[in-house]
Amino acid sequence: MSPVRHFLAIPDFSQSELVALFDLAARMKRGEYREKPLLGKTLGMIFAKSSTRTRVSFEVGAYQLGGHALFLSSRDIQLGRGEPIRDTARVLSRYLDGIMIRTYDHADVEELARYGSIPVINGLTDLLHPCQVLADLLTVREALGGWEDKVVAWIGDGNNMANSWINTAGSLGFELRLACPKGYEPNAEILQRNQKKARITVTSDPQEAARGAHVINTDVWASMGQEEEQEKRARAFQGYMVDEKLMKAADPGAIFLHCLPAHRGEEVAEAVIEGKQSRVWDQAENRLHVQKAVMATLMGKA
Ligand code: CP
Ligand code: NVA
Repeated sequence: MSPVRHFLAIPDFSQSELVALFDLAARMKRGEYREKPLLGKTLGMIFAKSSTRTRVSFEVGAYQLGGHALFLSSRDIQLGRGEPIRDTARVLSRYLDGIMIRTYDHADVEELARYGSIPVINGLTDLLHPCQVLADLLTVREALGGWEDKVVAWIGDGNNMANSWINTAGSLGFELRLACPKGYEPNAEILQRNQKKARITVTSDPQEAARGAHVINTDVWASMGQEEEQEKRARAFQGYMVDEKLMKAADPGAIFLHCLPAHRGEEVAEAVIEGKQSRVWDQAENRLHVQKAVMATLMGKA
């Protein structure tokens, strides 16, 4: 029996496997893939945090691949009352064919994968959001023809999305420039590891990061679980809104990305998210296609 494969972080796939995932997702998007690799299979979806896109795209995606998805709020299963993750992992492995989990501590997702015997997919932790960056990269490839020779700018918090972009830059080898306020930089270990593989720089000047960039990317200033820091963060992130002035510093053909949900008037101006360069709706749609490719690869025989 082949070992169980998980998708907890971008480096779980090699560069060529990532490209194969994008190719499969693109075929699925074009309607050229008619197989049902999840026939008779069930994906369990554990959510300890809110979700619109992740929940709906995984459920619809599992159905389109012939399978079924089960929504499990951590508030309603025994996990939320203190049943150990390692017990939950072993029990759910006896019923399900895969688990998607969105939670706080990344170590919990690693423990779920370690003790379970079915594929685990990371649907967001405080550290990483790998499914989202797959969708982002597919959007970049559709809009700009690829990521080779492209410069991606990240403006804002050094959060789970920023860390995942750093992993992706390292795996695929494009230039990434992050502009983060002091004290809100990305994970140092992830940064150092990937700086050996790609040109990745961190500045506190959004204009410097955006200059000539082909992709301008941002996210909320206070992520889920940081609601109490909202006011402090709003002060720290003054000058980090992606507005028309910042978009003008970028390449004229640059696209704007945001994983959503967005706060207009905070990290992004209304004119930018609703403007011609915005690709946020394609980006949201692409969650469905890339996650179907991930499920088909890990849970079926793609
Ligand atoms: N971008 C994203 O993961 O959205 P949800 O929180 O709605 O799932
Ligand atoms: N950084 C955000 C992403 C939401 C999809 C959060 O973790 O809340």
